[in-house]
This record gives sequence, structure tokens and C-alpha cells, in this order.
Amino acid sequence: MKGVVLAGGLGSRLYPLTKITNKHLLPVFNKPMIYYPIQALVNAGITDILIVTGGNSAGHFLQLLRNGADFGLQRIHYAYQEGEGGIADALKLAESFAEGEEIAVVLGDNIIEGNIKKAVDDFKKQGGGAKILLKEVHDPERFGVATIKDGKVVKIVEKPKAPESNLAVIGIYMFDPAVFDICRTLKPSSRGELEITDVNNEYVRRGNLTYEVLKGWWTDAGTFESLYRSATLIRENGANRMDV
Ligand code: G1P
Repeated sequence: MKGVVLAGGLGSRLYPLTKITNKHLLPVFNKPMIYYPIQALVNAGITDILIVTGGNSAGHFLQLLRNGADFGLQRIHYAYQEGEGGIADALKLAESFAEGEEIAVVLGDNIIEGNIKKAVDDFKKQGGGAKILLKEVHDPERFGVATIKDGKVVKIVEKPKAPESNLAVIGIYMFDPAVFDICRTLKPSSRGELEITDVNNEYVRRGNLTYEVLKGWWTDAGTFESLYRSATLIRENGANRMDV
């Protein structure tokens, strides 16, 4: 199984911080943001990793990460996303890297306390389809929100005004190679992006999307409030611990 970290976008919710570098390189307590999602993949035993980035500061990733020695890696793969087409558009760039294997995708601004090794191992046994991770939150309208019936996800709504649950879809996804065909069928949403939620809903429609509720804390870091909160969480509890 291969890993993909999506680290593109303009980070406009963090202007002016992101006028001089990419959002995913900003500090979160004592490390650049992207260290946390890369470490989450490595902790799950995934060492073949592609970083998809974009924007004006893409070269900063190479300067920082080089060949991945900080993570015990021998090399890191890089891809460049033209424009601002959204998460599912960025994912298309992983097709040739995946070479028909299953992939674990992590959004570059998602940070977790625990680890995803069990979810990854469960997905490997699942025989295709997709797996998402959910977490109870108090502000579900900021995220993709899952509705569960009889132990199954029946739908996901992106940033609902009236959420049907408090279960946010966190930015860690596992997909079989069908994901790339699905990405090709998508139409831009009202925010002009190809949405990862539309990809996941297609797997729901096909009946082969499973989910787990994540243990330990989770946060995104793409707004001033969540960036601040993530630094505080890491300072107080650490991230990517193996015991959570
Ligand atoms: C994205 C996804 C959303 C998900 C969130 C997790 O939102 O579209 O479904 O819940 O990441 O961080 P965005 O950060 O693009 O607003």
C-alpha cells in the first residue's frame, strides 16, 4: 500500500501567513505541519509516499523534506498540482504513482494523536472499496459529515448547514484503484472544486465504503483557530503516538 499526502492549495484562510510559504510548511508547535501527516503514514507502515503540492512555494517542500531522512525514508516522490481544483483534483496526480495499488491519502493539514495502523490493516483485508475515518466534533458544519444507519455510512454531506450527525469525516482516506476512475467523473462543486466527499459518496453508492471512529484527538490546522489549537494539543499531548 502506498501513501499520498495532499498539500496543495493557496491556504487563503491563513492569509497573510500563506503569502510567503505553503500552508503545510507553517509551524505547528515544534515541527512544520506536514511532518505530522507524513509521520502518521510511516507509523502505519507506509513508506512509499507521494507529496502532491502546488502554488507558488512548491520548492520549499524539497528544501525541507529532501529525501525524507527525518522519517527514515530513502526517498519521497513529489507531484505539482496546477491551479486550485480541489482535493479530488490533486488526487488524480497520484494515479501513475499508485501503479494499481491501494492508497492511503492524508490531507496535509490533518493531525492526529494516535495512529491509523489498525485501520490500514483492516482496509487491506477488506478486498477493495474505500475506508474513511470519523471523529465526533462540536462544529460539524466545518467538515464533511457522515450519516450512519445500521452500522453503515449512508451519506456524506460537505459542510452541511444543518448537520445530521456530529461525525466529521477526517482527512484520512483509503481507496482501491477505482478511485481514479471516480475522480474523472466528478463535476466541480459550488466552491469550484472537485470534492473528496463526492468520491466517498460514490463508494457509498457502490456499497463498499467502510468506516472507523478514530481514537484520540484529531484536528485540522487550516484556520487561525485550528492552527492555534493544533499547536496547543501537540504541546500538551504529543501527536502520532503509537499507544492511542
Ligand atoms: C476537507 C474535506 C472535508 C473534510 C476536511 C477534513 O475540507 O472537504 O470533507 O471533513 O477536509 O479536514 P476543506 O479543508 O477542504 O475545507
